[in-house]
Amino acid sequence: MTTLAPIGATPQPGSTTRKSFGKTPDGQPVDLYVLTNKSGAEASITNYGGAVVSLKVPDRNGKLADVALGYDTAGGYVNDKAYFGAIVGRYGNRIGHAQFVLDGKTYTLAKNNGENSLHGGIKGFNKAVWTAKILSTEGGQSLELSYLSKDGEEGFPGNLKVSVIYTWTDADALQVEYSATTDKETVVNLTSHSYFNLAGQSSGDILGHLLMIQAEKFTPVDADLIPTGELRDVAGTPFDFRKATAIGARIDQDDGQLKLGGGYDHNFVLRRSADPVESLAARVVEPTTGRVMEVWTTEPGVQFYTGNFLDGKTAGKGGVAYPRRSAFCLETQHFPDSPNQPKFPSVVLKPGERYHTITTYKFSIEK
Ligand code: GLA
Repeated sequence: MTTLAPIGATPQPGSTTRKSFGKTPDGQPVDLYVLTNKSGAEASITNYGGAVVSLKVPDRNGKLADVALGYDTAGGYVNDKAYFGAIVGRYGNRIGHAQFVLDGKTYTLAKNNGENSLHGGIKGFNKAVWTAKILSTEGGQSLELSYLSKDGEEGFPGNLKVSVIYTWTDADALQVEYSATTDKETVVNLTSHSYFNLAGQSSGDILGHLLMIQAEKFTPVDADLIPTGELRDVAGTPFDFRKATAIGARIDQDDGQLKLGGGYDHNFVLRRSADPVESLAARVVEPTTGRVMEVWTTEPGVQFYTGNFLDGKTAGKGGVAYPRRSAFCLETQHFPDSPNQPKFPSVVLKPGERYHTITTYKFSIEK
């Protein structure tokens, strides 16, 4: 059962508190919601961009550490270019040439990544102020964020009503449930862009984390990181994570695809059980602390990104800088550039249909 403590109160186990997180440049107030589960583990979420600001989970000795990169104030998120923790939309990842055809009509989007559109455009969902509502939930703490993306926003057709429900369970799982409806045919691909370091944010690189991804294939890319359309076997390549392997074991190998990404920045084609049931997509173990994170999802793909564009220049939480490869992302999604790739699973949403996906990040420990 969720209890709402007064603004500014010290978070208590089994409660959700709200506090001020600053203002947007045009003066809109922004809040931080601190969801504390019964064991005292904590997820903080802001309604600016719907971003997960911090995730404090125990190691094998019960010691809590914040395993997500982020900023201390709304201002950090206003200036952010790395999408730390954000809800990404209307279209997560890239659309080639910032263009697609739907129902015979060509739609042109803003080019914010070379010739392409990335993560929803210039002002994506990560730069929106969402309406927040604390929900009453059994077994955890829930926060619903809603946003209306207007017809034509960033070039996308249709008024899209979006809801994202975050639930921080008493078993240390962060469930993210995305829903959307439209009044005109459109494309939708929502994801969460948390950057994880299971040893604790600002504790060095993630190359020693052991990663397993349930994927036989991945989608190779061109020089702009747009999928070529091929589904390539991971077998015999540095993209084979079917058995847990250190992220850094092969990251600097002389491999054409790794060179294009500056490391891993690729979509993996997930092994699926019956749709739309959530299946295990990936499992990550940090050997020194024993922290484990599993990613479960209803989505067909996951973008594995090793923070290759982090450059240590932007100050994050506590004023620390985040160097290259000091975190990894597992962005569950439909495949990049799907609006232009007829063989990829469809991202089209029509009036009367409901977009609905679920992704859960489950934290635990290994002795
Ligand atoms: C995704 C992309 C990367 C990069 C990050 C944000 O993971 O695939 O290329 O743009 O987002 O920096």
